[in-house]
Amino acid sequence: MKYNIALIHGDGIGPEVVNEAVNVLDTVAKKFGHEFCYTPLLAGGCAIDAKGECLPQETIDACKKADAVLLGAVGGWKWDTLPGDKRPERALLGLRKELGLFANIRPALLFDALAEACPLKPEIVEGGLDIVVVRELTGGIYFGERGTKETPMGLAAYDVEQYAEEEVRRIAVTAFDMAMKRNKKVTSVDKANVLDSSRLWRRVVTEVAKDYPEVTLEHLYIDNAAMQLVRNPKQFDVIVTGNIFGDILSDEASMITGSIGMLPSASLAAGNFGMYEPVHGSAPDIAGQDKANPLATILSAAMMLRYTFGLSKEADAIENAVKAVLAKGYRTPDIYTEGTTLVGTKEAGRLVCAEI
Ligand code: IPM
Ligand code: MG
Repeated sequence: MKYNIALIHGDGIGPEVVNEAVNVLDTVAKKFGHEFCYTPLLAGGCAIDAKGECLPQETIDACKKADAVLLGAVGGWKWDTLPGDKRPERALLGLRKELGLFANIRPALLFDALAEACPLKPEIVEGGLDIVVVRELTGGIYFGERGTKETPMGLAAYDVEQYAEEEVRRIAVTAFDMAMKRNKKVTSVDKANVLDSSRLWRRVVTEVAKDYPEVTLEHLYIDNAAMQLVRNPKQFDVIVTGNIFGDILSDEASMITGSIGMLPSASLAAGNFGMYEPVHGSAPDIAGQDKANPLATILSAAMMLRYTFGLSKEADAIENAVKAVLAKGYRTPDIYTEGTTLVGTKEAGRLVCAEI
């Protein structure tokens, strides 16, 4: 089969890690008899420099024509002083909205070989951790009405948190479908003791649950959920939540695996279209030095094969190759510990290809 992939290398370490993911995809293509065609596109700081805007219309159009998007990272010091609506990060929000990517899937997986890197006590994570955060990505306070106005107490600024029933329903369906393929538990996170938007969220999620009698549904308030994640993370299977709570909880969940540099993500639209990117940022301090860990982007490519192209054997091949490289003791600087073998970005990518 032939697949068209839009490539957004972005800024900082983005280009290096995307290059390794492309090498891995090409290795998969050869082995399994597929053809991947790539369209490189500009977004983020590099697009500001080249085109004067972080998300050129031609990038949006080309992404819409592709079967899936693979993105490295955007942002960097150079653009840090630009006003909020001109910053490279706006490109991410624009892509999410324009491409209808309402479901953000962020797995937090503790790799056996990296268990030592977990900051929690060993007995808390014994037996491993495998959590998926399903974050609503195109609604809530990120996209609600906002503004700044004069008041007797000086300027006041506001951002509105709003969710429509249909927005909640479709993300809940995504979460329950995912739970059916996993351990059949969904934890919905909200602030229903205070917020109207959360009360609606909770009601709709509870309605959707009726279609999934095999799945256990639990509701937690966001403050309690943040606490439970470090107290007893093994209680979680699928966590479903709104945009801003999901932003925060997915960082927390990734940190407790000790491997934030290792984690992939998928942002999915209705149908099978998706944008895939590592959870980590553009790390400008190590850009261009062959020090970045390409595994999160490589694993994002695996998610693309699994979710958008329906190629689960091929996705398994990549994930197993990554596990094998770790088991053999190869480590990029971010996950290096004494007694393991230090490798650079390119070598890490080559080792994964060799395992495939
Ligand atoms: C993320 C990031 C983004 C977000 C920023 C960069 C806009 O933190 O993908 O989690 O808040 O969604
Ligand atoms: Mg975030």
